[in-house]
Parts: sequence; structure tokens; C-alpha cells
Amino acid sequence: EPVVAVVVAAGSGVRLGEGGPKALRDVGGRALVAHALDSLAGGGVSRAVIVSRAELAAAFADALADAPIPWTLTEGGAERQDSVANGLAEAERVAPDSRYVLVHDAARPFVPASVVAAVIAALRSGASAVIPAIRVIDTIRVADPHPGEATVVDRSRLRAVQTPQGFDLATLVRAHDHVRSKGLAVTDDAMACEAIGEHVTLVEGSRDSLKITEPFDLLVAEAVWRRRTD
Ligand code: CTP
Ligand code: MG
Repeated sequence: EPVVAVVVAAGSGVRLGEGGPKALRDVGGRALVAHALDSLAGGGVSRAVIVSRAELAAAFADALADAPIPWTLTEGGAERQDSVANGLAEAERVAPDSRYVLVHDAARPFVPASVVAAVIAALRSGASAVIPAIRVIDTIRVADPHPGEATVVDRSRLRAVQTPQGFDLATLVRAHDHVRSKGLAVTDDAMACEAIGEHVTLVEGSRDSLKITEPFDLLVAEAVWRRRTD
């Protein structure tokens, strides 16, 4: 079955600062959103719904002139989850034959195709919600209310969650409807699925799939890209 991706790119990019919309920022002569579509297509995605601002339609068309898969643009919402919900509605419209959906941050342009493929493979083996995650490198402490005190967390149990997160499309739509109608606070789509009792499956992510948030991350992304094209 074909796999559709919802690529969210409707944030304000406040922490990255000046330089235009984050998804259209350049690394190695190519917009971040174009790199993201290359990665998704390489891992087996056949179509994309990009969620951003309609006024950027011409700029996206320009950046994605040589995109490897067909894509459409739809309007974002106030919070990331609103943007995902809009993207899912559009995905159901343009890709009614897609049983599976991948939800991906445009801000993670260099996810390896192998990670995308692993997410899709887990869906095809019957998982309804799949997330790539990596071990954390730093020792982590939970800050204590008492000044100067903190407790170390057992790092071996911690995982940092990445995207693309993969879902059975109908299940994710049902999960979104549920959290919206109940007014539940969730920070990602996997949490929304857990709220309707679905099990979340982890696959191995990659440090290449860093999320570009601050200017420092662009420096790292440039290096990741250079190594890839060496
Ligand atoms: N996103 C979105 N709609 C929103 C908020 C975020 O589509 N209302 C997307 C962003 O475009 C990004 C991803 O969600 O691809 C992860 O968000 P983040 O890294 O926080 O990006 P921004 O929200 O753009 O950045 P900032 O928080 O610094 O403004
Ligand atoms: Mg944000």
C-alpha cells in the first residue's frame, strides 16, 4: 500500500532567528523541506502533504521544483497538533488509498532513508503507532524545588523521540478526534494514540536526524550533509 507523509512546516522558527521561513532555509544549496522530501521518498513514501502558510505557496513550489514525489500544500494551525490535524485531513483527501501516514518535522531534513524504511516496515508488520528514538548521551538530572539539589535519572531507560512517526492513518485520525473532544494535552501524535489505548512501537532513530531549532543546529546539519555527499 502507498504511504503518505504529513510534513509539518507551519511553525514560526523563532529560535532559529532571522533568515526566512525555517523549512525554506538552505543547506548545501537545497531547502530543508526539499531535503526532508528526499529522505522520505528514499525510505518509501510515495506522496507528501506539506503543512505551512498558503502565502508561501510560490516559495515552496520554487524550493520543491525537483521534488522526488508529488506534494500539496495545506494551511497550518496555532499549535503543532493543529497543523498535524490539518495535514491529516488533506492526506485523507489527496491520498484515500494510503493506509499508513508518516508525520514528519520539516525541521529534521536529514533523517536517513533507513530510519524511514524501518518505520514503514514496522507498520507493515502490524504496528499501529511507530516512533524512531535514540538513547540520550548526557547524564540527566531532574531539578529539585530545593535550590542546588537535583536527582540523577537512570539514563539507560531514557529515549529521545524523533520523527517521522508512523501510524495507521484511520487510527491517528481517531486519536486526534479523541484528544480534541476530551481536551487532552498531548505533545506528540504517539501520545494521542496512547490516549485511545494503542501501543507505541519504538525503532532505532539516528543522530543524523537532528531537529534544527537554533543556529548551532544549522552548523551541524551542514556537516551531516557534507559527509553524506562526500
Ligand atoms: N510546527 C507546525 N505548526 C505549528 C508549530 C510547529 O507545523 N503551529 C512545526 C514546525 O514547522 C517544525 C515542527 O513543527 O517543523 C517542530 O517545531 P519546532 O522545531 O518548534 O519549529 P518552530 O515552531 O518553527 O520553531 P520555534 O518553536 O523556535 O518558533
Ligand atoms: Mg515550536
